[in-house]
Amino acid sequence: MNDEFNKAIELVNKYKQEHLLRFYHFLNNDKKSALINDILTIDFELIQNIYNKIRKNHIEEKENQFKPLIANSLKMYSDEEKNNFYKIGMNALANGKVAVYLVAGGQGTRLGHNGPKGTFDIGLPSRKSLFQLQCERLIYLSNKCKKYIPLYIMTSIENHHDTVSFFKEHNYFGYPKSMIMFFKQKTMPTINEDGKVLLSDENKIAMSPNGNGGCFVALKDSGALGDMKAKGIEWLFLYGIDNALVRVADPYFIGFTICSNKPAASKVVEKKYPEEKVGVLCYKNNKPAIVEYSEIPKNIASEVDQDGKLIYSNANILNHILSVDFIETIAGKPLPLHIAHKKIEYIDEHGKKILPINPNGYKFEYFLFDIFEMLDDMAALEVKREEEFAPVKNSEGEDSPQTAKELILNLHKKWLINAGVDNTTLKEKQIEISPLVSYYGDNLSGKSINEI
Ligand code: UTP
Repeated sequence: MNDEFNKAIELVNKYKQEHLLRFYHFLNNDKKSALINDILTIDFELIQNIYNKIRKNHIEEKENQFKPLIANSLKMYSDEEKNNFYKIGMNALANGKVAVYLVAGGQGTRLGHNGPKGTFDIGLPSRKSLFQLQCERLIYLSNKCKKYIPLYIMTSIENHHDTVSFFKEHNYFGYPKSMIMFFKQKTMPTINEDGKVLLSDENKIAMSPNGNGGCFVALKDSGALGDMKAKGIEWLFLYGIDNALVRVADPYFIGFTICSNKPAASKVVEKKYPEEKVGVLCYKNNKPAIVEYSEIPKNIASEVDQDGKLIYSNANILNHILSVDFIETIAGKPLPLHIAHKKIEYIDEHGKKILPINPNGYKFEYFLFDIFEMLDDMAALEVKREEEFAPVKNSEGEDSPQTAKELILNLHKKWLINAGVDNTTLKEKQIEISPLVSYYGDNLSGKSINEI
């Protein structure tokens, strides 16, 4: 312990972070060693370099070249070709070649829900949580292909316990417990505006999850990647928790990706207007990349084709398929760190907890989509927003539980009308169809409707 204490002293002195040991002598032995352990895991050199960049307002001015990446959509294919995608996708699922990877370690600060986002009930008649909706889609597919699809869930230090407990309490929503593996992503320390690492308690560094891009290292370190290799899994369907309409492990998308002969594919929706704040999938310096709306020059972002459609229109919805071989090659590689100016809870020099009203420091995150620039090429499948994208980001207004709920109810009503139910009998009614009954609007005959 003495050795470690000395190492910690050396580090905090070297990097001018002495305040981290301010309360050390008042702590009991367990707390002392927890604090020393935390200090020894921090890469102070990295933190210092980033802080210097922030201070100098250093933005890498690089001339990027953009080229559109053409997304296909299923309507471009004949029925025979579409059926072929479906068959190939279902076969891959039935042969255990595909696993699902859910990244659910986010803090969901905009939603402001007290608990993991997946436990959130968006107000559907069934009151199902996002986790339940998604697991039930997997159950439906598993029943169809007669094989359970392995599910890997990345959580974070903040929500791991509550996530696992929620699954237990709900009996894993009927999915076999043995098919689900939970593991935590890593954390990064947070700093204040003077570059000082923040304490969340007298013996604790204020850590924050290292961004959804932490999912590749987490996959490797947790043993999940090894588990996939041992099981012969070749493809990973990777997605985020906050899309209430996500088609988890969509067989068409899997078949489409396999037929593309590329190591990765993304589902995208059409960008609504040039300034919409979404990441866009295109080529950047001849590599596939998802670029932030602010990164593409305005004149390029507003270019349209002869039909008036935006040329840079592939809006990212965090819905990807990646080959496990590709993931293996990149899982240890460094990704760029992104900096976010945020409100961060901390304790002050008197040990008093401070809940700031305005951003007071910086968090550091890796972004999942930065790995696409390590590829030579990838495929893209454009799908309809109203059918596959119901984001739950904000507590109200745009992309909120209310808009997500409406999207689901509208879609399910449409499914019934397509299945032959008379529109007039559905008027004014809320229609929700269980994912255990129908995945795409298939398998409907007007029965099994949850109606109020
Ligand atoms: P967001 O970027 O929307 O972040 O996450 P968030 O943390 O959920 O919400 P805000 O920004 O605090 O309001 C997109 C997806 O990436 C996951 C989220 O759980 C979500 O599925 N994510 C995000 C992680 O798994 N880990 C992270 O560190 C950040």
